[in-house]
Amino acid sequence: MRLDRFLSNLPRFNRAEARLLIAAGRLLVNGQSERDGCRDVREFDRIELDGETLQAGKPARYFMLNKPAGVVSATEHPEHRTVLDLLDEPDKHDLHIGGRLDLTTTGLLIITNDGLWSRRLTEPRSRLGKVYRVQTEQPITEEYIEVFARGLYFAYENLTTLPAELQITGSHSALLTLHEGRYHQVKRMFGHFQNKVLTLHREHMGPLQLDPDLAPGQYRSLRAEEVARV
Ligand code: URA
Repeated sequence: MRLDRFLSNLPRFNRAEARLLIAAGRLLVNGQSERDGCRDVREFDRIELDGETLQAGKPARYFMLNKPAGVVSATEHPEHRTVLDLLDEPDKHDLHIGGRLDLTTTGLLIITNDGLWSRRLTEPRSRLGKVYRVQTEQPITEEYIEVFARGLYFAYENLTTLPAELQITGSHSALLTLHEGRYHQVKRMFGHFQNKVLTLHREHMGPLQLDPDLAPGQYRSLRAEEVARV
């Protein structure tokens, strides 16, 4: 929300008053004087007026988890353990998952309270590649590379998948880079060839790589430099 909007939404200021306060340099955003009413402020920003705190700003939180199989990528579930159950953190209801994985899929999962940031990481428009390590029941042939690069038609959604890059690493294994996240996408793409996916593991999401020191079920906070990469 714009800073002038934030102020005029408070019961004590109207729009004109908000504009004057900002123009007079009486606002601090995260400790810095701010005279631009168009500036975007978020729930993470600390906003002060003449030394009075109008919004304390809550800490932005970013975690990477090595998701084990059998744990659901959801914040609540009636039957299964959820990925949030693996986190020993306060105020877990504030957190959401950036890019879910199926029950049986393992690997990199991002959990955060910063919706704008996680959207940048996951939305197809950002064109950030998500890299999956795949093992299959049947051999993977060169033909797959061309078909995945062209895109596959998914009748249920009535769409063609974005070009995906396949790197064959063994007779039954490959690395697949997707730029979107459709329902069961990897399994359905291999399903086009009647080839069942036996294991699926996400290694990268855009500039973020699963920390090899994290055992399945372990997590850590992202470093500031990792957050800034997205
Ligand atoms: N594609 C799948 O089929 N499953 C996942 O969990 C992620 C991508």
